[in-house]
Amino acid sequence: MIQTSFNIDKIRKDFPILNREVNGKPLVYFDNAATSQTPKQVIDVIVDYYSNYNANIHRGVHTLSQEATDKYEQARLKIQKHFNAASSDEIIFTSGTTHSINMVANGFSSLLKKEDEIIVSAMEHHSNIVPWQMLCERTGAILKVIPMNQEGELILEEYYKLLSDKTKLVFCNHVSNALGTVNPIKEIIEAAHNIDAAVLIDGAQAAPHIRADVQELDVDFYTVSAHKMCGPTGVGILYGKEEWLNKLPPYQGGGEMIAEVTFEKTTYAELPHKFEAGTPNICGGIAFGAALDYMNAIGFEVIAQYENELLEYATQELLSIEGLRIYGTAAHKTAVISFNIEDIHPYDIGSILDKLGIAVRTGHHCAQPVMDFFKIPGTVRASFNFYNTKEEIAILVEGVKRAKSMLL
Ligand code: ALA
Repeated sequence: MIQTSFNIDKIRKDFPILNREVNGKPLVYFDNAATSQTPKQVIDVIVDYYSNYNANIHRGVHTLSQEATDKYEQARLKIQKHFNAASSDEIIFTSGTTHSINMVANGFSSLLKKEDEIIVSAMEHHSNIVPWQMLCERTGAILKVIPMNQEGELILEEYYKLLSDKTKLVFCNHVSNALGTVNPIKEIIEAAHNIDAAVLIDGAQAAPHIRADVQELDVDFYTVSAHKMCGPTGVGILYGKEEWLNKLPPYQGGGEMIAEVTFEKTTYAELPHKFEAGTPNICGGIAFGAALDYMNAIGFEVIAQYENELLEYATQELLSIEGLRIYGTAAHKTAVISFNIEDIHPYDIGSILDKLGIAVRTGHHCAQPVMDFFKIPGTVRASFNFYNTKEEIAILVEGVKRAKSMLL
């Protein structure tokens, strides 16, 4: 049982959107892996920013600019503390995980040479595949893939065989967005470090459920998107070990990332500003800090325990539907269920569920190699968050049964 401090009714009241109806039915929001909903505590911070101290940061002597700068830098400190980074200089604000990964992939252009090898997992989102393929095109490096099994778990023995003195970089998600698998990243990082390869972990799907400690993991790069964890869209972070961030060249040139500019030569700013060209998403960064405050006040252990109960209940109830197959049956999962019913197209099930007020994602989930592995065009994906309930899962199960009876 979950701790009594977890009051689901109180929590749900924090999310105004959960009161709305969709197609005449109460909204059941199960597309949390795509984006999470926003509590009023975070919405209030956004309104406060634009109502009271909207200004550009690190630039003005005036009061508003100083207030905005202070709040933005406080948010960076909150993020540093949350992920236990050694220094706030290691927290680079980005527009989200895709931006963060591209920043590292671009940086490695100058560090890789022809025939060097980089290793990806078989269950990545396209954002953790395509930037590396582009890097291979630029450098002549070779991309190798860690295979997975039918449960949707990485085959570590095969990973260990791929590692060699040619391996320079390994990148893998902490949690698969398409399957919900929690990957053994500690083992993956340790093995890569034994041969002096760097590791980037895409934490986009893990961060809403698991509090990663980057020092304990000893990870070189870790990426997060705020909108998956009760924050706004368009903001996230790249965590990078200071030694790596110092080695990588800047991603973009512009204001804020320089020490001195002349037409003859430009020198770059110190970390973290070297990677933060241009006016950032100031309000977004501050609201990201507020989202972390909100989630930490509930507690990540409590959240994980509650979501696990939702996952177990939903798995059991959905599997009671004849012909329903779940893709991603790893022993260690977050609350994501990807499924199909016989040959029914996922889009058709998703459309009927939408008519019933139930939001799920359908399709390949930006993970086409995962779909190819299972030889399917896509899945219906229900992904749960701590503000969901078993009652909502019962509505989903009834909705899926109804869709099946209409479509088969
Ligand atoms: N990466 C997001 C998802 O899995 C958009 O839905």
